[in-house]
Amino acid sequence: MADHLWLLIVLLSLCAISVLGDVFVSIDCGASRSFTDENSIVWKGDEDLISNGVSHEVQSNYSISPVMDTLRVFTTRKKNCYSIEAEKGGKVLVRASFNYGNYDQKSTPPIFDLHFDGNFWITVNTSEAKIYEAIYFVKMKVISVCVAQTRPGNFPFISSLEVRSVDSQVNRNVDTNYALFMNARFAYGTSETIRFPADAYDRIWNPALGNGLLNMKSEASVIDVDIPNNPPQEVLKHAIMAPNTSQMITLGLPIIDYPFRYPLYINWYFSEVQEVNSTDIRSFRVLENMLPFSLAIVPPFGKVTVYFISNLTATPATNFSLNPLGDATLPPLINAVEVYSISDALTNGTNNKDVEGLVSLQNAFDVLKEWGGDPCLPAPYSWEWISCNNDPMPRVTSLNLTGFNLSGQLPDFRNMDALEIIDLHNNSLNGSVPDFLGNLPNLKQLYLADNQFSGSIPRSLSINSNLNLSLTGNSLLCTNANSCRESNKNDNKTSKLPVILGITIPIFFISVAVMGFLFIRHNRHKANGPSHTGDISYNINGPSSTRGTMRGGNFDDKGVTELTRNEKERFYGSPSPLLTED
Ligand SMILES: *[C@@H]1O[C@H](CO)[C@@H](O)[C@H](O)[C@H]1NC(C)=O
Ligand SMILES: *[C@@H]1O[C@H](CO)[C@@H](O)[C@H](O)[C@H]1NC(C)=O
Ligand SMILES: *[C@@H]1O[C@H](CO)[C@@H](O)[C@H](O)[C@H]1NC(C)=O
Ligand SMILES: *[C@@H]1O[C@H](CO)[C@@H](O)[C@H](O)[C@H]1NC(C)=O
Ligand SMILES: *[C@@H]1O[C@H](CO)[C@@H](O)[C@H](O)[C@H]1NC(C)=O
Ligand SMILES: *[C@@H]1O[C@H](CO)[C@@H](O)[C@H](O)[C@H]1NC(C)=O
Ligand SMILES: *[C@@H]1O[C@H](CO)[C@@H](O)[C@H](O)[C@H]1NC(C)=O
Ligand SMILES: *[C@@H]1O[C@H](CO)[C@@H](O)[C@H](O)[C@H]1NC(C)=O
Ligand SMILES: *[C@@H]1O[C@H](CO)[C@@H](O)[C@H](O)[C@H]1NC(C)=O
Ligand SMILES: *[C@@H]1O[C@H](CO)[C@@H](O)[C@H](O)[C@H]1NC(C)=O
Ligand SMILES: *[C@@H]1O[C@H](CO)[C@@H](O)[C@H](O)[C@H]1NC(C)=O
Ligand SMILES: *[C@@H]1O[C@H](CO)[C@@H](O)[C@H](O)[C@H]1NC(C)=O
Repeated sequence: MADHLWLLIVLLSLCAISVLGDVFVSIDCGASRSFTDENSIVWKGDEDLISNGVSHEVQSNYSISPVMDTLRVFTTRKKNCYSIEAEKGGKVLVRASFNYGNYDQKSTPPIFDLHFDGNFWITVNTSEAKIYEAIYFVKMKVISVCVAQTRPGNFPFISSLEVRSVDSQVNRNVDTNYALFMNARFAYGTSETIRFPADAYDRIWNPALGNGLLNMKSEASVIDVDIPNNPPQEVLKHAIMAPNTSQMITLGLPIIDYPFRYPLYINWYFSEVQEVNSTDIRSFRVLENMLPFSLAIVPPFGKVTVYFISNLTATPATNFSLNPLGDATLPPLINAVEVYSISDALTNGTNNKDVEGLVSLQNAFDVLKEWGGDPCLPAPYSWEWISCNNDPMPRVTSLNLTGFNLSGQLPDFRNMDALEIIDLHNNSLNGSVPDFLGNLPNLKQLYLADNQFSGSIPRSLSINSNLNLSLTGNSLLCTNANSCRESNKNDNKTSKLPVILGITIPIFFISVAVMGFLFIRHNRHKANGPSHTGDISYNINGPSSTRGTMRGGNFDDKGVTELTRNEKERFYGSPSPLLTED
C-alpha cells in the first residue's frame, strides 16, 4: 500500500515535469516481450520497430541484466537504424548499449560505427560491454540511431536503446549546434547507482567511493535542486571529503578509450553536508594541474552549486584538485561530477526536398521502408539505392532501384530535382510514365526498361534531348512502332507529399552529445580491487600554493557558476554562448 502510494507520487511528479510531448522510450533490442525493471522503467522489444536484423541472446555467463542479454544483429545493409519520434527542437538524452556476450560462440567481438541523426558518434569496440550517451537538441521530428558495418565479417549489433527528454536548460552552456558525449558521471560517497526515478531524466550516476577520503552523508533532510541541471537529491545527499584541511582531493579525468579529440564540458556539484557554525568555514578552490583555476568555493547547506567548464582542452594527464583555502577550518568536499566531450558541429541532415521524395517512394513501395536514418549522412553511409553529393545538406543525385520487384505506380518525387540518374529497370511498375520525370532539370539518364508502363510517352520526355532514355521491354507503352490512341490524360497524381519522416530542415537549435565509458570504468575498478575509486586519487600534498585571493564566489542566481581561471580570462577556453531560452 505504502509502495503504491509512493509510486503514485512519483508518477504525479513526473506528470508535473512533462511539459511538452516528453519522450521516454526504452527499447530492449532483440527481445520480443516487454517488461518492467526494478526502477519502474518499462522496456519494450524491438520487433515492431525494425524489420531487418536477427535476435540473439548472450551466453549465460556473460549475462549483465535482462536488457543487456538480448541483442539484434545486422548482417545486411551498410547501416541499420532505429527511428524514434521526438519533439523537434527538444533536448534529449540518447543512450545506446552493447553487450556482445559471445552470442555467436565465435569469441570475436565486432567493431563497427555508431551514428545518430546523420552524425558520426563513435566506433564501438565490443570487446567489453559499452554504454554511450549523448545529450543534444533534436533538429528533426525523428531521432535515428544507426549501427554501420565498417569491417568485413564484423556484423553490427545493439543491445538496448533509450531516449529521454531532458530540460533544455540541462548543460546549457554549450552551443546548441553541438552534442555532449558523456565520458563519466559519478555520485561520490555512495555505493548505489542512481538513475530514474530519482533522476527525472534518467541520467545514470555511477557510485564512487573515496580512497583515503571520507564518505559523507548530508545532514540536510531536503536539498533544493532547483537549478538548470536539476540533479537528483539522492546524488547530493552524499559526498566525499578530505580527512582534514591539510589534505586536498584530486580528481583525474576519466580514462576513455579514444584520443581526446574533443573539448570537454565538466560539471562539478557541491552541497554542504553539515550545518556549519559561525566559527567554521569550508572554503576551497579548484586547481588545474596544481595551478589555481577557480575562485573560492563555499558549498551551501541544503542547496547545491554547480561549477562548470565548457570547451576545456585537456589531455588524459590533466587533473584537478580541490584545495583548501588558507582560512578554511573544514576540509574540501565534492558530491558529484559529470565529464562530457563536446561533439563536432551537428549536421542538418539531407536536403528536405530529397527526404520528402524518398518518403513518397517508401510509402509507395513497402520494401523500401526497411531503410531508415538519414538517407545520405554521414557519408559514405547513404542508403544503398541512392547516391548523394557532398553539399553541407546533401542532395540525392542518383536513384537506382533496379530489380527491386517494385509493383504499382510511381509516386511523385519531382522535388528531388538534383537527380541526374534514375535507374528503375527490371521492376513491375505500371500505369503511365510520370510527366515530371522529363522536367527534372539535372536528369541525364533515365532507365525504365523492363516494366509494365502503359499509355504514351510524356512529351516532356520525348522532347528532352539531353536525356539518355531507355524504355524497352514495356509492351503496353505507346511508341511510334506500337502507337495507340492518345489515352485520356490519366495522370494519376498521387501528389500527397507525406510529411512523416520528419527529417525536416532544422531551423533552430541543435545539440549536445555524450558518450560514456561507464562499463570500462566499472571493469577497470573491478580489476583494481573491490572498492570503487571513481576519478579520485588521494593526494598527500598539503595545500601548498593555496594562499591567494579569497573571494565571495561567483554564483549566478540559479546556483550555476562558471569556473574562472583569473579575473582577466573569465572563461577557460572559449565557452559557447548561453543560448535558447525556449
Ligand atoms: C564463459 O564460458 C566460456 C566457456 O563456456 C569461457 O570461455 C568464458 O571465458 C566464460 N566467460 C566469462 C565471462 O566467464
Ligand atoms: C578493441 O578493444 C580491445 C580491448 O580493449 C583491444 O585489445 C583491441 O585492440 C581493440 N581493437 C581495436 C581495433 O581497437
Ligand atoms: C590529516 O590526515 C592525514 C591522513 O589521514 C594524516 O596523515 C595527517 O596527519 C592529518 N593532518 C592533520 C593536521 O591532522
Ligand atoms: C563549531 O563546531 C565545531 C565542530 O564542528 C566545534 O568544535 C566548535 O566548538 C563549534 N563552535 C561554536 C561556536 O559552536
Ligand atoms: C596532477 O598534475 C600535476 C601537474 O601535472 C602533477 O604534478 C601531479 O602529480 C598530478 N597529480 C596526480 C594525483 O596525478
Ligand atoms: C545547420 O543549421 C544551423 C542553423 O541554421 C547553422 O548554424 C549551421 O551552420 C548548419 N550546419 C551545417 C553543417 O550546415
Ligand atoms: C544500378 O545498380 C545495378 C546493380 O544493382 C547496376 O548494375 C547498374 O549499373 C546501376 N545503374 C546505374 C545507372 O548505375
Ligand atoms: C530482375 O529482378 C529480379 C528481382 O526482382 C531478379 O531476380 C532478376 O534476375 C532480374 N533480371 C535481370 C535480367 O536482371
Ligand atoms: C515480387 O513481389 C510479388 C508481390 O508483389 C511477390 O509475390 C514476389 O514473391 C516478389 N518476388 C521477388 C523475387 O521478391
Ligand atoms: C498496377 O499494378 C497493381 C498491382 O501491382 C494493380 O493493383 C493496379 O491495378 C495496376 N494498375 C494499372 C494501371 O495497371
Ligand atoms: C547513354 O547510354 C548508352 C548506353 O548505356 C551509353 O553508351 C551512352 O554513352 C550514354 N550517353 C550519355 C549521354 O549518357
Ligand atoms: C572552443 O574553443 C575553440 C578554441 O579555443 C574555438 O575555436 C571553438 O569555437 C570553441 N567551441 C565552442 C563550441 O565554443
